[in-house]
Amino acid sequence: MTSRAWETRDHAHAPYSQFFVGAAVIDAENRIFTGCNVENLSFGLTICAERVAISCAIAAGCRNLQALVVVADTDTPVSPCGACRQVMAEFGIAQIRLCNRHEFLDFSLEQLLPRSKAGILHRTK
Ligand code: THU
Repeated sequence: MTSRAWETRDHAHAPYSQFFVGAAVIDAENRIFTGCNVENLSFGLTICAERVAISCAIAAGCRNLQALVVVADTDTPVSPCGACRQVMAEFGIAQIRLCNRHEFLDFSLEQLLPRSKAGILHRTK
């Protein structure tokens, strides 16, 4: 899975930041979907590698996503943005591995985004 993320990183469209990111997500049937960051001249339209990978899985009909890996050539393992963490929460991706070329760090979703769903759309009546 990590190697698939590195391969897909080669496809990143990052002419503005020159920061190339790859990601891969795996479902309960061991299907793997990958993504890279896709930047835009209108910066706010940029999509992170993690959300591209998750979106590919969802578009293929996968719902039971288990784990995600994200890779970049950084000094310390790359850290997902808040938007990506919230999208990981949406699909219950329980295990997240953050990698650079030398090391990885494993986190639970709860560690990366505590209380991601509590109190949203929950009503007393
Ligand atoms: N980026 C990702 O794709 N994933 C991350 O986890 C961190 C940041 C991208 C977004 C943008 O294209 C570039 O990296 C700089 O933020």
